[in-house]
Amino acid sequence: MRTLQTFCIRTYGCQMNELDSEVMKGMLERRGLTRTDDETTADLLIFNTCSVRDLAERKALGKVGRLSRSRKDRPVIGITGCMASAKKETLLEKLPHIDFVIGTNNIHSLNEVLDEVLSSGSRITRVDPLFSTELDYTAAQRDDPIKACVSIIRGCNKHCTYCIVPYTRGPEVSREPDAIVDECRQLVDKGYREITLLGQNVNSYGKDRQEWGTLFHDLLYRLDRIPNLSRIRFLTSHPVDISKDLMEAIRDLPSICEFVHFPLQAGSNRILHKMHRSYTREEYEDKVASLREIVPQVALGTDIIVGFPTETDDEFEETLQAMKRIRFSTAFLFSYSPRKGTPASRWKDDVSEEVKEQRLQKLIEEQETISYNEMQMLLHQTVEVLVEGVSIKDKAMVKGRTRTWKNVVFPGRLEQIGTVVSVKLHSFTNQTYVGEQVKQDAFLIQ
Ligand code: 5AD
Ligand code: SF4
Repeated sequence: MRTLQTFCIRTYGCQMNELDSEVMKGMLERRGLTRTDDETTADLLIFNTCSVRDLAERKALGKVGRLSRSRKDRPVIGITGCMASAKKETLLEKLPHIDFVIGTNNIHSLNEVLDEVLSSGSRITRVDPLFSTELDYTAAQRDDPIKACVSIIRGCNKHCTYCIVPYTRGPEVSREPDAIVDECRQLVDKGYREITLLGQNVNSYGKDRQEWGTLFHDLLYRLDRIPNLSRIRFLTSHPVDISKDLMEAIRDLPSICEFVHFPLQAGSNRILHKMHRSYTREEYEDKVASLREIVPQVALGTDIIVGFPTETDDEFEETLQAMKRIRFSTAFLFSYSPRKGTPASRWKDDVSEEVKEQRLQKLIEEQETISYNEMQMLLHQTVEVLVEGVSIKDKAMVKGRTRTWKNVVFPGRLEQIGTVVSVKLHSFTNQTYVGEQVKQDAFLIQ
């Protein structure tokens, strides 16, 4: 039987993929393998892939394809993640140098699959439609010592017409509240100070398991009670499911950061309907207004897609105007990319690449102006910063984030890492503030 000594994992896509890679790293280290960042020498190579847009798939496929030529010896190579779930065994047919394909719902089988590959030399595909709750998250090997991501719900039931996620990750499966609280407690005991709760739609948490009597905001109340957990964030929220209970939890619980990422996707009601987003632009803006009323200092993040099939110039203009009115703090902006198997992929992708690019550029420019003005508004204020590490550019500075997700650097010391300090903001370049620590009891704004 072949033996493996070293492994290298390359990760593409979202935070859930990053977390899955951390779990795989832990599983492989427990198996006695050593991690390396050198894919030219590793005995085992895993590509944890993303399918959400065509570019993400092409990047990973290009990389895997080039490997067959660049390496003389034969490492064991596996593809995991959303592309594995979407393409299944066809990946083995197309790529003769691949040994295994493991879908997003089968990561718990990694060791078993490796045993089989090594002992019999067979090529294996494991792709189940439903997430297995057997996955041992406590195996996760995280590189960041202060911030950790914790999965609370997998999959998505929303079926937006452009999105491949419901097909690659399957339906929603919530994780037991006790297991989440235990994992968060253990992380805090290890020194973690900030936890980001992950799910395709965290607001659906617990709805598939009514018997637990724990919805998303109930979970937040439980987690907020963990001593020494300075900050809790969460990603991603669906606008329809953002409840008043959640808004009040953000207002009332000290550890919950005042930042909500909830994708608008488009500003035209016809396009929203065609996307199957189940809200109108007015309803979305009403949610924004309630959120800002209940949590005045809240910052908002969003995702927007331009060039969805049949989107007209006027409809795009509605998106631009909505952005100007709402003034997001952070926006992830995308060109529509048809995904095989989704309802929208059956409609003609009729907005040309050139028009998509122009629309994207307009949104990027608008967002830059909004972000610049927002950054300017916080200048000379004192904010709360969780110190996360030493600045890469200047070793005499430490870096961290505000509660509303803004980068800050200031002169500081290693011992401050993991502590929450008050920083007065003097200036900024690009997306990062430069500041100076002030006395702990200074007036804090978010
Ligand atoms: N084309 C472009 N963007 C997409 N997204 C999801 N599917 C597609 C697609 N087919 C974007 C959405 C989502 C984010 C994670 O990726 O904006 O919120
Ligand atoms: Fe995709 Fe929509 Fe689910 Fe988000 S809510 S993962 S965009 S189907």
